[in-house]
Amino acid sequence: MRLKGRVAIVTGGGTGLGRAIALRFAQEGASVVVSGRREAPLREVARRIGAEGGRALAVPADVSKPADIPRLVRAAVDALGQLDILVNNAGTVTTRASALDTTDADWERMLDVNLTAVFRLCKQALPELIRSRGNIVNIASVNGLAGAPARVAYGASKGGLVILTQCMALDHAREGVRVNAICPAFVPTDLNQDLVAELKRTGRFETLVARHPLGLGDPEDVAAAALFLASDDARWITGVALPVDGGLTAAL
Ligand SMILES: NC(=O)c1ccc[n+]([C@@H]2O[C@H](COP(=O)([O-])OP(=O)(O)OC[C@H]3O[C@@H](n4cnc5c(N)ncnc54)[C@H](OP(=O)(O)O)[C@@H]3O)[C@@H](O)[C@H]2O)c1
Repeated sequence: MRLKGRVAIVTGGGTGLGRAIALRFAQEGASVVVSGRREAPLREVARRIGAEGGRALAVPADVSKPADIPRLVRAAVDALGQLDILVNNAGTVTTRASALDTTDADWERMLDVNLTAVFRLCKQALPELIRSRGNIVNIASVNGLAGAPARVAYGASKGGLVILTQCMALDHAREGVRVNAICPAFVPTDLNQDLVAELKRTGRFETLVARHPLGLGDPEDVAAAALFLASDDARWITGVALPVDGGLTAAL
């Protein structure tokens, strides 16, 4: 019960990595606010947490809408009395392309959801996190640590998220707030099922798998890292961008 008595918000908590993080946090004693745009998956996660004896609240919100940000933080604090952990996991990939093939709309959407929304949510949550001496876990990507072909907008958004994490870690350490990031490599989820299908169709899927010395990851692998960073086990850790990548970034 490493998060006993803590209250956490997990954005994008209805599916994929966010769902695994929400379930794991609840198993470790946290009360969890699961958020995302679609209500049905949020309700399913909240119902499952309740069935396992935990406490959860489903709060539909679109992190790219500025008005939804204070509403989300207020919903957590009003219902659960405090906020200790913010997991910025909601993210989007609208296109995988070079600069020449990336539209302004795709650029803006990925920067909005993957970076600007995180800035806004952190800013809104900070007074609560300072009060609770809490922490933030940002779900970035290995694409935020190094370049990759056809990832201009996504890579820029995740690279920005890594630097946002480091800057905020420095700014708020004295106030007792830790800020860390996780940089996952490839975990099959809704986000990349189109890519998996295309790679399988064109016979390139095994090449992707082979680039990960330990093979592809599961959402639970990312959830375990998020639990560590969010818990007191990581009390002397702030400003890191932790690759959770099956060894992908060990190679030059
Ligand atoms: N899977 C990987 O290989 C991988 C690798 C590195 C990093 N990541 C990162 O991990 C995070 C989770 O991705 P995933 O792989 O678990 O894919 P996913 O299942 O598609 O999760 C993305 C989540 O974000 C939510 N979301 C998207 N836009 C939103 C918005 N505007 N407002 C609120 N919620 C929004 C989605 O819910 P709604 O559609 O209902 O809003 C969904 O639950 C993302 O930040 C992604 O970039 C994933």
